[in-house]
Amino acid sequence: MRIAVVGSGYVGLVSGACFADFGHSVACVDLDESKIAALQAGEIPIFEPGLNSLVVDNARAGRLTFSTNIDEAVAGAEVVFIAVGTPSRRGDGHADLSYVYDAARTIGRSIKQFTVVVTKSTVPVGTGDEVERLIREVNPEADFAVVSNPEFLREGAAIQDFKHPDRIVVGLDNDRAKQVMKEVYRPLFLNQSPLFFVTRRTAELIKYAGNAFLAMKITFINEMADLCEAVDANVQDVARGIGLDNRIGSKFLNAGPGYGGSCFPKDTLALVKTARDHGSPINLIETTVAINDNRKRAMARKVIAACGGSVRGKTIAILGLTFKPNTDDTRDSPAITIIQALQDGGAIIRAFDPEGMKPAAKLLDNVQFGTDAYDVAKGAHATVIVTEWNQFRSLDLAHLSTIMAEPVLVDLRNIYNRADAVAHGLIYSSIGRPEGAAAGHLAEAAE
Ligand SMILES: NC(=O)c1ccc[n+]([C@@H]2O[C@H](COP(=O)([O-])OP(=O)(O)OC[C@H]3O[C@@H](n4cnc5c(N)ncnc54)[C@H](O)[C@@H]3O)[C@@H](O)[C@H]2O)c1
Repeated sequence: MRIAVVGSGYVGLVSGACFADFGHSVACVDLDESKIAALQAGEIPIFEPGLNSLVVDNARAGRLTFSTNIDEAVAGAEVVFIAVGTPSRRGDGHADLSYVYDAARTIGRSIKQFTVVVTKSTVPVGTGDEVERLIREVNPEADFAVVSNPEFLREGAAIQDFKHPDRIVVGLDNDRAKQVMKEVYRPLFLNQSPLFFVTRRTAELIKYAGNAFLAMKITFINEMADLCEAVDANVQDVARGIGLDNRIGSKFLNAGPGYGGSCFPKDTLALVKTARDHGSPINLIETTVAINDNRKRAMARKVIAACGGSVRGKTIAILGLTFKPNTDDTRDSPAITIIQALQDGGAIIRAFDPEGMKPAAKLLDNVQFGTDAYDVAKGAHATVIVTEWNQFRSLDLAHLSTIMAEPVLVDLRNIYNRADAVAHGLIYSSIGRPEGAAAGHLAEAAE
């Protein structure tokens, strides 16, 4: 099939490259000329494992092209995916749909034959109706159908997720479009990934419901972690104890510094706004949003407490700036809020991240970036693990404790064992695993 993908960011580029890898002919377009110039030169503007070779191989095979000429790409396509951003609108938290609507108008003007326009961006329920109206407004003669096909890939595992999805949700009410969508996803369907056809509005809502549920699950275990700290229990054991019940499931039960990233914060907020607009507030998610917002600054207070109640004039080493490992995405990362809160408390911040320092530098002031974990920890009064990159999982703790001014390690991802850290001379704190609670856990581990 001939496919155009409008918006070549994390989702557009991964989707485009994977569709090309399935054998389709794909044109990825974007308004950002520097992004397209880089892609044409074989440079990948984002960090996503495996994406580089997938893009280069498919471009070389002639199945994947890059351009800023949206009209031409759309005119030659049977299917057009909209994969532009839908950030939070400044001020009110609704999804900012201006990029989607601009893309819809441009696509509308360029349609030449029957075209299936597929919204892959995460958009509030009812957006497909407006996309359809806009296309008809700019091109009353256009022969087209608007479909919702939300994307569930995770940054850091995007290609695997795209090629082996748990399900492919397709919202439509048009038979011709249904045949086209089946053709687009045929390789995945043959691979046993279920294609789940629903109405367009239902598909739009499924995406938000999924993200809101996951955000709520994380928030639940984070609050449990706080309770564990108050009652000397171990949150990792609680998570395992409930996660083994397969009605609950063990995923998304790692207590940490609060969820972040380019999706959960904005999508939970947008869902809350949509629900209120429709007179059907979702109190659970409103509470989830509020708890998570507070949690990030609470993590800074945890660091301050670990430093004896003040960080004024102290150097704090931050390990990890991205909202999770294996991405360079720092949008709404807890690390950003934690750093700002520590700076508010008078701390001097040194930070290291394998991929996120460049984007973080645009969001932060007065941060000294280092070359590795030890470089930033040297002379620091505390080291704080914010993102669980693999290279932070196997630090030489004995070395770390000797190079710091004060051997304080705050592990916001629970990747170390208290006894190990203490044995190597560190003063250790983590999430939901107070000193007393670790004993039972460790006794078992030692058996
Ligand atoms: N990043 C994720 O992990 C993820 C996962 C699932 C769904 N989503 C959703 O997918 C959508 C895209 O997210 P992203 O992270 O890829 O965003 P992104 O910011 O990385 O990329 C968006 C791209 O669209 C381009 N663009 C904007 N307006 C355009 C227009 N009119 N024509 C052409 N290009 C245009 C921008 O220049 C940018 O390159 C969002 O709705 C997001 O919520 C993201």
